Amino acid sequence: MSIIDKIKAKARADIKSIVLPEGDEPRTVQAAALILKDSLARPILLGNPDKIRAVAAEKGTDITGIEIIDPENSPKAESYASELYELRKAKGVTPEDAAKLVKDPMYYGIMMIKLKDADGLVSGAVHTTGDMLRPALQIIKTKPGMKVVSSSFLMDFPNKNIGYEGLLVYSDCVVVPCPTAEELAHIAVSAADTAKNLCGVEEPRVALLSFSTKGSAKHELVTKVQEATRIAHELAPELILDGEMQFDAALIPEIGASKAKGSPVAGQANVLIFPDLQAGNIGYKITQRLGGAEAFAVLQGLAAPCNDLSRGCSVEDIVTTVALTAVQAQSA
Ligand code: ACO
Repeated sequence: MSIIDKIKAKARADIKSIVLPEGDEPRTVQAAALILKDSLARPILLGNPDKIRAVAAEKGTDITGIEIIDPENSPKAESYASELYELRKAKGVTPEDAAKLVKDPMYYGIMMIKLKDADGLVSGAVHTTGDMLRPALQIIKTKPGMKVVSSSFLMDFPNKNIGYEGLLVYSDCVVVPCPTAEELAHIAVSAADTAKNLCGVEEPRVALLSFSTKGSAKHELVTKVQEATRIAHELAPELILDGEMQFDAALIPEIGASKAKGSPVAGQANVLIFPDLQAGNIGYKITQRLGGAEAFAVLQGLAAPCNDLSRGCSVEDIVTTVALTAVQAQSA
């Protein structure tokens, strides 16, 4: 079973409601029908019902049984607007702004999650990453105790001897451009949680990556990763975590044994923490394009699960992301 098949099976075992703000987008409509048919989640489409039905008819998609909510005419719009105003008035949002914002399906969907009218949200087939992330960051906010929202990429290799049954978790490759040592420590703890609770990795072994292994180089960038490792140990003393180390020391047992003797992680890491977004984003794309791994992204550290799609996503990508979100919602 692939990691995604395992996650889909988990999603079916405890069905969650997932809101799709881009409800009249053709791939989203098609995905919603597949999600319902495969019992992966209860999809909720946001948008104008006539437009959504017209898209479904054009695509020959049966959307019978799928809930549709029109933010423009919703009886809940008023209460969502007043809650949104309370949450954001300190940031200059007026009652008029809030009333206007909740008519935007993206904000309406985020308010549904905030007020627990749905369990998770998936968007991004039309919106950019920033447009999708900002309302989630502003309104859903981080989990208690978590400093920062970040992401993990699940890298699924055809070679099942790599990592945990062919899976490596890479973090952060999407959100935090230049993390402080403290933020990097929180990213490491979040990624271990993703590995365990979403991917079923029984024993996450977390490596904080650098161009140095255990002091082999001296530079302020290395010091930051060392400091992040120290803070992460304090945050989660039970976690098997070590750093700083180079990519090869983290993954190759002989190199780990010679460069980081006695490390509980070196040579057997399954969660890799990149020092910044440039390294993480480049790293996952090299792994995907040259290493032949399939890549699936999730956001982590949010108080409730919201996930981003790439604008080039396929119908199947949306289905998979909804399944990932539903499983995150099970342990939110
Ligand atoms: N975690 C928690 N909260 C955050 C985070 C974070 N990582 N980043 C911002 N916030 C909060 C801020 O504190 C602020 O809260 P407030 O309004 O209550 O004070 C709110 O979110 C908005 O913050 P801004 O600084 O105004 O948001 P910004 O414009 O910086 O956008 C964003 C944040 C979108 C995450 C930005 O950091 C970004 O663009 N990151 C890179 C995204 C990207 O392009 N990724 C690569 C492409 S994706 C791919 O390749 C798969």
